[in-house]
Order: sequence, then structure tokens, then C-alpha cells
Amino acid sequence: MRAGRGVGHGKVLLFGEHAVVYGHPAIALAVDRCTEVTLTPIDGPTHVRSEHADPRVREAICRVLPDHGHQVEVETRLPVGRGMGSSAALAVALVRARADLERTSLGPSECYGAAMPIERAFHGNPSGVDVAVSAWGGCLWFRPGPPPERERLEPGEWQIVVLDSERTGNTAELVAQVAARRPSVDPVLERIGALTTQARAALRDPEALGELMSENQALLSQLGVCTPELNALVELARGAGALGAKLSGAGGGGIVISLVRDPGPVLSAAEQAGVPAFGCLPWVA
Ligand code: MEV
Repeated sequence: MRAGRGVGHGKVLLFGEHAVVYGHPAIALAVDRCTEVTLTPIDGPTHVRSEHADPRVREAICRVLPDHGHQVEVETRLPVGRGMGSSAALAVALVRARADLERTSLGPSECYGAAMPIERAFHGNPSGVDVAVSAWGGCLWFRPGPPPERERLEPGEWQIVVLDSERTGNTAELVAQVAARRPSVDPVLERIGALTTQARAALRDPEALGELMSENQALLSQLGVCTPELNALVELARGAGALGAKLSGAGGGGIVISLVRDPGPVLSAAEQAGVPAFGCLPWVA
């Protein structure tokens, strides 16, 4: 029997992380980095080969596959645990690989439905934005359901440069940390939601979008999910001329995204400072 293959793309959150867990909207961009899963039928116990030793990878896979009969290979070009949606990308790749093995094809809605239980194995109570953007691709407006609100947006003439703090953040812990600070942080979550709505209208105006991104960063600092390292990366990007910069994902480590017209200056500033950085191209399904 032939192997089944599936791909899931990562993402950056342009606006709305954490607030989206409480029903506010978020804007996410699917990126050209992805995870690929190959499922090969074997005689014997299901066996996982992955470069990443995270025990949750195995646990997530066991939610979908029987104990016997598969060799699972996971390869990824996404930094893991950095807020780039690596668990959602794995979940989407896995359900697509299973469908491919069974010679069926999954539309984005079916893919979203099948991948969400796997994402829950990683994060407990995810909003679903990471899985949605991996399933549908592009620049996505998302508000959790039921049913989730989802709309494809048209980004303007700007690019994203990612700066990697090289530290992992634990999404489930950070979400729990914010939950423990409610209801006193509810006005901050609401302001993030309002800002995301403003950002949607400013998507084709890079200067205005950059300003809103930096405001979103200030609100994330108020939520307590930023770190001195992430603040330093925001400063580095702004100092190199980025129009805006913010942490992206749950925070506590992970990445900073910066909005630029030309990636060159931020990439050279990062290189001089010894910070891993790369430009992200959008992925459109
Ligand atoms: C998602 O990448 C980040 C959070 O908003 C959690 C979620 O939406 O499930 C913090």
C-alpha cells in the first residue's frame, strides 16, 4: 500500500492573540513554512519519527491513528514552540496525510473540524485561529464560533520579517496566566479586539497598520505576556525602520514580527545583533 502525505502551513498573528480566546477577532497570515507528515502502512506498532522530542507530538498522533499499523514521519521548517502555529500545522498535515492514505480529499472545513481535537491535545482550549489559517491559507479574519467567523482579507504592499528570540513559550500556560488575571484585564482584551477591527480597515495602508501593530504590542505588554527579550527585538526592528512590531503568538518567548516595505534593513540589523531573522512570504491555498 502506498504512503499518505499531508502538509500544514504555519502562521503569524498580525493582530488579536489572547483576545481571540475570549471571542474577539484576530487577523492571521499563513506563511510559506510548513510541516509535512508521511504515513506509511506497516506491520507492527505505530511508530513516530520526528526531529522534535516533544511528547505531545506522539500524544496528538495517537488521537488520530490506531496503536498499530503506521510509520509516521514528521518534518518541519517551522520553529517549534515559537508562536508560528507549529502544532496546528502538524494537526492539519496529519489529517491530510490520513485522508491521502485513505484516498479521500479534505476540504478546508473538514480539515479544520478533524484537526481541532489534535490542537486541543496541545493547548487545551485553543481559539482555533491557528488551525483555521493553516486549513484555509491566506490572510484570514477569524472570530471563534460556533460557527467561527472567517473571511479572506486582501493584504497590502507590505512584508513581514520574523525575529526569533530562540526561547519557547508555552501557549497553554500563557493562556491560563491571562485567564487568571480576568476580569481585571478584560478592558485590555476588548481594546485588542477593537484594534483588530481597525487593522482590518487599514490592511492596505502600511503606515497606519504599523502604528496599530505597535499599539497591539503595548496592550500585550499590559497583559503580562511580553518579556524583556521580546521588547528588545521590538526595539531592534523599530530602530531599523520597521513600520510596526509586536510579539506574535502566545508570547513568553517565541517570535516578534515586524511590518516593513523592504525587509533588507531589519534583516541586516538582526544579523549584526546576532538575532536569527527571516522574511515570511504569505501562503495562499
Ligand atoms: C494562538 O497562536 C495564540 C493564542 O491566541 C491562543 C489561541 O488563540 O488559541 C494565545
